[in-house]
Order: sequence, then structure tokens, then C-alpha cells
Amino acid sequence: MPRSSHPILVVDDDPMILKILKVTLGNAGFDVVVTTDPEEALAFAREREFAVVVSDQQMPTMMGSELLSQIAILQPEATRILITGVRSLESFVDAVNRGELFRFVTKPWVRAEMLATMQNAIQRYELVHAKAQLERQTQLLNQELAAANARLEQQVQELEHQRQLLERSKAALHHNFDRSLELCHRILSIFHPHLGAKTKAVVHLCQQMAETGLFAPEQKHVLLVSAWLHDVGLTGLPRELATSNQQNPDGFPGDSRQILLEHPIYGQTLASFVDHHQAVGETVRTHHERFDGSGYPDGLSGTQIPWTARCLAVADHYVSSDLSHEQITEELLSQSGRAFDPEAVRLLLRCQLEPASRSHRSLDSWHSALPVNRGLYGPAGKFVSEATEALSENL
Ligand SMILES: [Fe+2]
Repeated sequence: MPRSSHPILVVDDDPMILKILKVTLGNAGFDVVVTTDPEEALAFAREREFAVVVSDQQMPTMMGSELLSQIAILQPEATRILITGVRSLESFVDAVNRGELFRFVTKPWVRAEMLATMQNAIQRYELVHAKAQLERQTQLLNQELAAANARLEQQVQELEHQRQLLERSKAALHHNFDRSLELCHRILSIFHPHLGAKTKAVVHLCQQMAETGLFAPEQKHVLLVSAWLHDVGLTGLPRELATSNQQNPDGFPGDSRQILLEHPIYGQTLASFVDHHQAVGETVRTHHERFDGSGYPDGLSGTQIPWTARCLAVADHYVSSDLSHEQITEELLSQSGRAFDPEAVRLLLRCQLEPASRSHRSLDSWHSALPVNRGLYGPAGKFVSEATEALSENL
């Protein structure tokens, strides 16, 4: 039963000593390779791995300490043992320094001590070998970890770059969306300044209603965008009818009445080009529906009308009315539960209502609020207005 499968290389110029060592170690179960030539020993060491290299110190072609120092370069994990008959301290120190020895054995040796030394040398090799393997594995893992970290860092950078691109795209989309709303408002204002000013007042009021905490973020968006776009459908009306009281469509004759009744439907179509949210188009379409079913264009009632449209209806009515603040407040309360949703009326009355923001203010106040930043031109390219000139009803 061999004590170890790891081979031992023994080098001695004396064939007799070499034979004794081979028999002694071989009988003890060690795998032994022997040679009398240090150069051949080095050749063996280049070809295969040894757990232990044992060398005589005094050899004619090479000192044992020199051989073991070269073995240390070829096989740093091998345990090196020097055998010598010289007991001088000088030779001992030189041998240790040059050969980085594990043990120093003097002749003649005791068999049991030699076997114990070999067993310890094998164990030392196994420990050193295991430690070296562990270090190599650790180094490999560290390299893989470093590579993984580098890849991760690169992915994080790419993700950050994509996030920034996405943020820029998102900001550009928001900007374009705001510009689209502004374009609609400018078109409405150019069509008729009164409608532009009224729309701004409705938006202001809806903003206050939206900040009461009763709206989810999506609902706030729908209410505010619908406030901007609710009357864009009026651009389909003859201009002279645009400022007439929309609260009473029955007051319009024939075709004009029909066009007025359909302006929420036309507005829904136009709104769909600005905002893809279906709820925005639905709110624009139903902003003239009434809680009791008396409104238009579809005669919806109660909760058939979207919540945002019920709120917009109250704000639109408050802003559009020619009554005083006190009178319109009283009217809203009297119509609560009839034309208007009671909850929407309560919500409106909780807001800080400012009579000055109502649409029936004088034209002078619209003029200062709606400057034209660039020159205006008619459809045939005819110049209409100077840049920065204020809009008027006659444009
Ligand atoms: Fe309207």
C-alpha cells in the first residue's frame, strides 16, 4: 500500500547510497525515481512534477544546494531535502540559502527518521500544492470577477446613456405636447380672442380643482388637457357665432344650432390628434352634457358622463356666464343635482374663485394677455398683423 502517489526524486552520485534509498523508500510505499546525474535530475524535473526532491550535497558535477536551487525554479511547490555528510555550519547555511530547503539530513541517517522526514515532506508538498491551487483558483475567480465587474460597469454606463436618451426624448415629447396645446390655444385665440381668454380661465379653474386631491394623476392630466381643448371644436363655427352664449343652443337658428351642438364631437376628433388618451376625447365630447340628461350632443346623464367632464362642465359654465360671481354661485347651487353633479359643484366652490378671471372681462385685458409674437399672415399669404401686436376681435 503506497503512502503516497506523489513521486520522489532522489539524486546521489554514489550508486550504493542511491540503491539503499530506493529500496528503503520503495518498500515504504513511496514512488521513487533515482539518478546519479544532476543534469538528468533537472531533465526529469522539466518533464514531470515531483512532490519531493532529495539530493546529496557533495557531487562531482554539481553541488546539491545548486541543484535544489534550480529545482526550486522549475518546481517551486516541491519539497527539497539535502543530504550531506559534512556537518559544518558554513555548508549548512549556504545550502539553506541557496536551496530553500525543507530539511537537512546528515549521513548516516536513521531509517525511521528518514521515512518520517519523507512523509512530512509529502504532506508539506500537498499543503503547498493545495495552497497554490487555491491561490490560482482565487486569482482566476478574481479575474473573472473583475471582468464581470467591468462588463457590469459597461452595462450600467450603457443603461445610464439610454436613460439619459430616454429622459431627453421624454422631455422633448413633453415639450412638443405642450407646444401642441399652445398651438391649439393660439389657433383658438386667433379664431376669436374671447375663446382664447375663456379657455385660459377654464384651465386656471380646472387646475385649482385638480389640486384638491380628489383626482388621480391620470385624471388630472385628462382634466387639464381637456380644459385646454374643450372648445377647439368651435373653430368649425362661423366666427360671428363663436362668442354667442353656448349655454343656450336653442337660441341659435337652423344650421348654426346644429353646428353648435356638434362642436364637442368635432372637438373630440381634433383632441385625438393632440393627445392619444381616449379619456381626453371623451371629456371634450361630453363637456356640454348635463347631470340630468338635458345636455348635448348625446344626452348622457349622471355617471354616464365622465367625472372629468362633469367637473369641466361646472368650470366652463362658471367662466362663461355673464352673471356676477354671487349670482353664478347661486345658480350653480340651484342647479346642483340637476344640470350639474353636486360633487363637482362642491369642488368648484371649494376653489378660490376669482371674479377677475371670468371670461366676460374687457377686451383690454385679453389684449395684454395674448400678444402675437410673430407676424400673422392670411391663407393667401397676405400680411395681417405686425409681430408683438396684440390680438383683437377684428383679426
Ligand atoms: Fe363648448
